[in-house]
Amino acid sequence: MALQTAAHVFAPSSFSLHKEGKSSLKESSLFGFPLIDHVKADMKRGLFNSRKSSSIRVQAVASAAATTAPTFTPSTVQGKKTLRKGTVIITGASSGLGLATAKSLSETGKWHVVMACRDFLKAEKAAKAAGMSKENYTIMHLDLSSLDSVRQFADGFKRSGRPLDVLVCNAAVYQPTAREPSFTADGFELSVGTNHLGHFLLSRLLLDEMKQSDYPSKRLIIVGSITGNTNTLAGNVPPKASLGDMRGLQGGLNGLSSTMIDGGGFDGAKAYKDSKVCNMLTMQEFHRRYHEETGITFASLYPGCIATTGLFREHIPLFRLLFPVFQKFVTKGFVTEEESGERLAQVVSDPSLTKSGVYWSWNKDSASFENQLSKEASNADKARKVWEISEKLVGLSEAA
Ligand SMILES: NC(=O)c1ccc[n+]([C@@H]2O[C@H](COP(=O)([O-])OP(=O)(O)OC[C@H]3O[C@@H](n4cnc5c(N)ncnc54)[C@H](OP(=O)(O)O)[C@@H]3O)[C@@H](O)[C@H]2O)c1
Repeated sequence: MALQTAAHVFAPSSFSLHKEGKSSLKESSLFGFPLIDHVKADMKRGLFNSRKSSSIRVQAVASAAATTAPTFTPSTVQGKKTLRKGTVIITGASSGLGLATAKSLSETGKWHVVMACRDFLKAEKAAKAAGMSKENYTIMHLDLSSLDSVRQFADGFKRSGRPLDVLVCNAAVYQPTAREPSFTADGFELSVGTNHLGHFLLSRLLLDEMKQSDYPSKRLIIVGSITGNTNTLAGNVPPKASLGDMRGLQGGLNGLSSTMIDGGGFDGAKAYKDSKVCNMLTMQEFHRRYHEETGITFASLYPGCIATTGLFREHIPLFRLLFPVFQKFVTKGFVTEEESGERLAQVVSDPSLTKSGVYWSWNKDSASFENQLSKEASNADKARKVWEISEKLVGLSEAA
């Protein structure tokens, strides 16, 4: 199936679908990712140009692992007038984009990064190999595929006494070759259960912590993807994201009715794309409900095609071999892990990226701009419905 998909989309296609539905000769894709991260003429350019970077090499380093969450001494927090060190939680910081972002922020000395990871030892080794200074990060256990684990993480963080200034929902699983669904501890299809429902509960449980923070720019960031946006060519590579009337989500994604949000048959690649649509809709619903009241900036982003990350670990070997090479040398759409980390770090901390409700992307000069979401990924009714069904599924509503 994956080889068929590869054959289908390997040759660059000759058009792209812009938000107005017009076609151009500027974009093509491989395996659902953009071949060219070009600037669309009708899109605003951001002010920020990224720093130059080289790739991160993470090597395993033996280390002893403590499993308790270190506590925070509030005395290190200075008064409101002085910008204290910010605290940012990054989920899935043990590899790829999350690790690169953790490294980038910790190197500034202005951030303490809470690496929220399912594999404590892997995260510890990755942080050390990336050269992160111990005083700039803490690792806490979080398995997003278990709602109990999410609740324990949130409780543990609250008990640590740290303020929460920025939350980055980054972790994800992608199962493009799975023939059968797998499930979270709570019985939800794994991709949507982890990428969306786990993060949905986490964000909701930690929102009050963010409200209480005295940090000047508080942000909740949920990583999106171009593959969930059908206003791009990448988003039009089958299987396309589509939530339909959400009868499957309503039914609990447990396989008794359906494992897919739209009620259809299981498709691992689609489940990932659907989960990303939910991520982007959730960001907008947070913005609609809470931005005015709290001042928190809610944002999403497409970090670029980071073709080397562990996200593709379940893809066929041929894909993993060709995809980075093709993106690097043919399409030039390749983004290094370090570069993508710089981008996400901008969304966390750059003073020019404080606008709420925005989906950020970067052009070929690595300048940020406000991108357009697809019709479905920006549908306010769907955002509300995803929110309402999700809060029942994760036990935040009495009707659960
Ligand atoms: N790579 C791309 O081209 C690309 C493009 C667009 C968007 N994105 C988005 O970027 C984000 C990061 O992906 P990546 O490319 O950096 O992939 P990655 O290297 O595989 O990182 C994913 C992270 O999520 C963690 N994770 C998976 N399941 C988890 C769970 N149940 N609980 C806690 N953590 C879990 C992984 O932990 P382990 O280390 O323990 O496996 C890993 O740290 C994702 O949201 C993805 O959708 C990526």
